[in-house]
Amino acid sequence: MALTTVFSSPKRGQGGKASWRGNHPPTLSLEIFKWLKPRLVADPMCGSGTTGDAARQAGIQVWEGDLHQGFNALVDEIPVMPDLTWLHPPYHDMIVYSGKVWGKSANPNDLSRSPSYGEFLKRLNQVQYNAYQALRPGGHLAVLVGDLKRKGKLYPIQRDMRWYGEPVNLIVKTQHNVQSSGRSYSGNFVPIMHEYLVVTRKPKSVASAWLVTVRDGRESQKDQRKTTLMGWNATVWTTLQALGGKASLQNIYKEAMSHARVKRARSKGTDWQAIIRRTLQETCSSVERGVWALPMAV
Ligand SMILES: C[S@@+](CC[C@H](N)C(=O)[O-])C[C@H]1O[C@@H](n2cnc3c(N)ncnc32)[C@H](O)[C@@H]1O
Repeated sequence: MALTTVFSSPKRGQGGKASWRGNHPPTLSLEIFKWLKPRLVADPMCGSGTTGDAARQAGIQVWEGDLHQGFNALVDEIPVMPDLTWLHPPYHDMIVYSGKVWGKSANPNDLSRSPSYGEFLKRLNQVQYNAYQALRPGGHLAVLVGDLKRKGKLYPIQRDMRWYGEPVNLIVKTQHNVQSSGRSYSGNFVPIMHEYLVVTRKPKSVASAWLVTVRDGRESQKDQRKTTLMGWNATVWTTLQALGGKASLQNIYKEAMSHARVKRARSKGTDWQAIIRRTLQETCSSVERGVWALPMAV
């Protein structure tokens, strides 16, 4: 079957160990080999050796390393120049490796032991950059990552991590036989049933030898009071939210005065207080005389 941007392999195939927590199917590595035709593959986080076994089956040379074998992908250089580097990191602490899957104690360089999600991303970016550096010009970096859910919040690693090199393909790999698929949920939890393979390329051109394309998608927070692009409804509703969902008209005016939209209206001599009153009347609830609350849920 030809490779598409959706990869599904209900049968795992031969190679690596199905018992190694967080392993991937060798069928995925084999499909990527058929597509990219590498002559030398590197896997610096090889785990149970899935990609290595797949490469040997396909007659491709391979170099493998992992922290459990003494190779630290954070600082150690990949000793070969591969056409394809396969990188399958831990998904932060979804599965903790050192001291659990292998070894007797926690290893501080283990990405799955990163003390926070932010620190994990920093380390993952470092590992990716190291992997990118070793690539032969024109070579590909394939990073297999999934999303993480903690206390109802999604941590989309694929978006939050950096992408090094020219983006080539984003392949969605559907999950089979994962632990979560066997559980029954109360109805408000949506199990994650896919991962991503982010494939980028190191350019060949002489002009870009020193330049690396970096895509940085980290989460950031922007103060919405600084934008005039917020509509009046949203400005009034967010003002009310900032005041605990219910507030007097005077307090609403006071809180809204620091908003760029209100400041602009004031500087133009527009009756911004009338706009706020009209928005409150048309969209919010009057809970007592002069006191307004966010609109009721319908
Ligand atoms: C998701 S597993 C890889 C699984 C592999 N693809 C397989 O099919 O077996 C992630 C691996 O990253 C390794 N690892 C964590 N931190 C590392 C580091 N700093 N350097 C090298 N390997 C590391 C872990 O030991 C673990 O084996």
